[in-house]
Amino acid sequence: METLETMRWVDGCLEILDQTLLPGKTQYIKCRQYTTVCEAIRRLSVRGAPAIGAAAAYGLALGAAALKPAGSEEFMAGVEQIARDLTATRPTAVNLQWAVDRMLGVLRDNITGGIEAAKEKLLAEAHAIYREDLESNRRMGQFGEKLIPHGAAILTHCNAGALATAGIGTALGVIRAAHQAGKNISVYADETRPLLQGARLTTWEMVQEQIPVTLLTDNMAGFLMARGKVDLVIVGADRIAANGDVANKIGTYGVAVLAKEHGLPFYVAAPMSTIDFNISGGHEIPIENRDEQEVTCFAGRRVAPEGVQVWNPAFDVTPARLVTAIITDRGVARPPYQESLAALAGK
Ligand code: MRU
Repeated sequence: METLETMRWVDGCLEILDQTLLPGKTQYIKCRQYTTVCEAIRRLSVRGAPAIGAAAAYGLALGAAALKPAGSEEFMAGVEQIARDLTATRPTAVNLQWAVDRMLGVLRDNITGGIEAAKEKLLAEAHAIYREDLESNRRMGQFGEKLIPHGAAILTHCNAGALATAGIGTALGVIRAAHQAGKNISVYADETRPLLQGARLTTWEMVQEQIPVTLLTDNMAGFLMARGKVDLVIVGADRIAANGDVANKIGTYGVAVLAKEHGLPFYVAAPMSTIDFNISGGHEIPIENRDEQEVTCFAGRRVAPEGVQVWNPAFDVTPARLVTAIITDRGVARPPYQESLAALAGK
């Protein structure tokens, strides 16, 4: 089995696996400047909430290392600008903001020790964020696997796998854990228009892992459920509000409505860093709008007429009432989420 790292730190350089080329080509982008990291996040070379958090942390460490300030105040101001540039790349996944805030906290705590020492602390923190995600994935897998019955056919949307994280993935981490537990599961993967994370990345991960996987286009999910072929749905998340509303890849909401209609459990797997307690409900989650060419073109070829208007939100919001349970790295939250998520966070 081929195991690819989503990103790796090699001799002072962040190497990011260019996921836009998968599954056809394996190529790493060498990032020596934080602006290269910003660009890689923006163009989805690295994508998935936990992965862009880790990439942004490394980006901040790279940017800070390159600064040659006259004093600590100038250094702080420079790093804060880098933090703003990194968080501006993609607005929906809160893990990005979370990782950058954590890095800034480390900087504030260590600035009195000198600039060079602070730069080292920042790099160490980026490594820690990456490592912790690995462990967090493993724990979600353990908690979530218990919810998966033997022989289950599982529908997933987008890619919440190893490629979206540092470890085995969130939704796909649970699927991997169930597979390893010998549960004889199988997977249905929505292709996930417009950028095909399901077709290109999820099926690729499952094929590598030898987990039985069937690809379908997004508009086939309802009929698949009506035919009784799905037992449960599991997806990842980009941001979860304090009340349990879930922002995830566009199309997730439709799948959740379909699951409700067919009486199927709809599970969300996400680390605690994806829960935004500052946001009371899904209506407050900023939704990224992306370039219209993602919709008007297919495989580099224009398929829609010139002049057509396009709506291209990258994410949607699934209301908490459609979510059966949220699998976190601290345990499984059940409705009412306002209380259960707060309890997991120790609030
Ligand atoms: O636009 P993307 O590919 O970054 O969107 C990714 C998703 O929506 C994932 O489901 C989510 O980030 C969870 S990844 C563990």
